[in-house]
Amino acid sequence: MTVYELVFNIPSDPHANDEVKGHSSRAFLTDLHLIDMPATVILGAQWGDEGKGKLVDRLAEQASWVARFQGGNNAGHTVVIGDRVLKFHLLPSGITRQECSLILGDGMVIDPWVLHSELENWIETGGDDPKGNRLFVSERAHIILPYHRAMDSLDKTIGTTGRGIGPAYSDKINRIGLRFGDLAEIAYDASWAQSATERMNRSLEAAGSDVRIEVESLQEEVQWIHGIYESSIANTGLMLDNALKLNEHVILEGAQGCLLDIDQGTFPFVTSSVTSRGNATHGAGIHPGHVTDVIGITKAYITRVGNGAMPTELEDAAGEHLGTVGHEFGTTTGRKRRCGWFDAVVMRHAHRINGFTSLALTKLDVLGGLDELKICVAYELDGAEITEMPSSASALARCKPIYMTVPGFESKTLEEWLVVARHANENGLGITSLPQPAQDYVRQLESLLGIPCSSVGVGPDRDATIDCN
Ligand code: GDP
Ligand code: IMO
Ligand code: MG
Repeated sequence: MTVYELVFNIPSDPHANDEVKGHSSRAFLTDLHLIDMPATVILGAQWGDEGKGKLVDRLAEQASWVARFQGGNNAGHTVVIGDRVLKFHLLPSGITRQECSLILGDGMVIDPWVLHSELENWIETGGDDPKGNRLFVSERAHIILPYHRAMDSLDKTIGTTGRGIGPAYSDKINRIGLRFGDLAEIAYDASWAQSATERMNRSLEAAGSDVRIEVESLQEEVQWIHGIYESSIANTGLMLDNALKLNEHVILEGAQGCLLDIDQGTFPFVTSSVTSRGNATHGAGIHPGHVTDVIGITKAYITRVGNGAMPTELEDAAGEHLGTVGHEFGTTTGRKRRCGWFDAVVMRHAHRINGFTSLALTKLDVLGGLDELKICVAYELDGAEITEMPSSASALARCKPIYMTVPGFESKTLEEWLVVARHANENGLGITSLPQPAQDYVRQLESLLGIPCSSVGVGPDRDATIDCN
């Protein structure tokens, strides 16, 4: 019996199948559990921008679903296919694979206007209209409104992306936020618009903003959102759960990174969602038992956009090299990313929180041309050596990196790296295709962290990734 037959044969009377199967319906349900196809979680292991978009696009070739589960359009995920550079803020990066269905999951905060313009761009460049066909928006996801953007624009401390993320999550936690699934009820309810406007304007005034929200505009906006997305709003957790039971492979695409996690990151210089493994299934509306693969993505060095300490930050020629060769400018805001050496203390923390089953190392090519490479193995804090990250932002700011130094390797053009990657994958060479010092660098990181690399990125292009297993 095939998996499909098994699933479609689920009887309405749970005992009806007992004879056919020759055992109890309870055992039948257990069989179903055993045939669940595991989901893969892809997570940023640093301060974001590790290359999640590129990896998701690559792995989505083998997947039926890609789901975002947290964050919003603070994310900027890049996919490069030949001379096409695609940047996604809300659309899951699996959109590049026509057979892949896409979910904007329960734990997200979504700006409907940004999603609309992303979809228009996608369609203008020859893509399909996936809304309601293969793109579904969770009824539980929260809506970012102009009010949230206005509140976020007042930030002077964190260096947020200004996209309304924190204020939208605040409203969710305060249990006053607006969800996609609630639109049908409130879109034509004038009393909702009246009281929401009053509340928003009180908050704006208290925060010192000159912006005010008009009742009529708010009502028109929610009606527009309802009209545009009505056909794609769904119980997306249930859809994913059903898909897993049909043996379909699901990728859960993280946004931001472990060090930006509201609980486990470098608070208060973090985003407002849980970016980690624990929230991947929760934010997607499925249970954690579906997951067996958790891929932590890390650059071969480290970057950060926005404020907050970064112990290995470089302000010398090596930092300049990383920023220039790596084109380190934010995908969402265009801000210059701060660059530094690979930080194994950060990564140990990220591994403890997420239990990575493998690492996807990206941007190894960017290190080419540096005579020597440094890896931070511990910090010195107030005269003492520590190997775990302090939770206090001021203590982290006082941490001085303790480095080991290893030899560098020669630079190559992106075309040359692409040839290396294609040759490696065609011949199953893995990282043995790399120059010896580059191989040694990868092995050094693996052994410091105790996690094997499943892939190594050597360029932005979809094909510039060396598979290691
Ligand atoms: P994400 O937010 O984690 O998806 O990462 P971003 O897309 O914001 O930033 C990663 C940047 O690095 C993008 O411009 C990618 O095209 C690029 N990139 C990804 N992997 C590699 C790699 O292995 N080498 C190089 N040179 N660039 C890469
Ligand atoms: P992806 O998914 C890098 C940073 C901001 C700021 C902090 C809080 O592309 O990796 P927010 O707007 O979320 O309230 O800003 O978090 N930040 C990111 N940095 N990559 C991201 O996403 C980020 N999303 C938010 O720069 O420091
Ligand atoms: Mg990004």
